[in-house]
Amino acid sequence: MAILDKALAGKVALVTGASRGIGRAIAVALGGRGAKVVINYASREDAAREAATAVEAAGGQAVIAQFDVASSTAVADAIKAIGKDHGSLDILVNNAGVAVNGMLMRFTDDQWKKTLSTNLDGAFHCTRAAATLLLRAKTAGRIINITSVVGEMGNGGQVAYAASKAGVIGLTMATAKELASRGVTCNAVSPGFIETDMTAEHLPDAARAKLLENIPLARIGGAVEVADAVAFLAGPEAAYITGQVIRVNGGLLM
Ligand SMILES: NC(=O)c1ccc[n+]([C@@H]2O[C@H](COP(=O)([O-])OP(=O)(O)OC[C@H]3O[C@@H](n4cnc5c(N)ncnc54)[C@H](OP(=O)(O)O)[C@@H]3O)[C@@H](O)[C@H]2O)c1
Repeated sequence: MAILDKALAGKVALVTGASRGIGRAIAVALGGRGAKVVINYASREDAAREAATAVEAAGGQAVIAQFDVASSTAVADAIKAIGKDHGSLDILVNNAGVAVNGMLMRFTDDQWKKTLSTNLDGAFHCTRAAATLLLRAKTAGRIINITSVVGEMGNGGQVAYAASKAGVIGLTMATAKELASRGVTCNAVSPGFIETDMTAEHLPDAARAKLLENIPLARIGGAVEVADAVAFLAGPEAAYITGQVIRVNGGLLM
């Protein structure tokens, strides 16, 4: 089925970490399909406001919401406020993430905790807090978790990041099984290497050149290419897809 324009009109979506990068592109794509998008961010309010303007330019509605996904109380309060202010929550995209890199033997407890608490605890906090509202959305309820090719195949220097993203895949499948009987779906999108601040910071030129040799499509991906997969999973066309990991990686892992 072709992707229906404005199929998300009347739906409320929360995208975590939507001030920049992949999350921002997801917010714009959902807005383009007509959704009202709650743009979560951690600290960059300027970027979040700019993302909200982009969502509105795409045809959606947008509000911004600062909270730290690593804090279960902050997440619970924020999602309660979404229910109160907007009346529903139909789509949750767990995108907020950090990459804290370093070799195993020198990796500190704090680095491990920072990575896991944002990338994995954050997705759990949001999913648990949003579940009641999503169940009310019934067959329109959608959870989409952003994992990574690194969670599927590992990467030297990224032990915590790989573990957090592999955990997100387990969370996805278990949530999909729990919520399926009520029509709510839960899937993961697994990007390869995508051009964002995260890769600009952690992928030096030499590593980038080496990486390109292993990507059959021979380029780094664009955030919009990940966002389009999420926008598809968020819509009615994807109602029979649950518990899946959809790869957007240029063929890096097949
Ligand atoms: N880029 C890639 O190649 C790639 C590949 C595979 C998977 N991914 C995954 O895709 C997701 C987005 O990555 P990206 O490259 O777009 O990252 P990014 O450009 O670094 O943006 C990260 C976003 O997450 C937000 N954030 C960080 N910590 C947060 C917290 N504790 N609470 C709430 N928001 C928080 C940031 O908010 P502020 O602006 O306020 O700081 C920002 O909006 C991540 O889960 C990442 O692991 C990325």
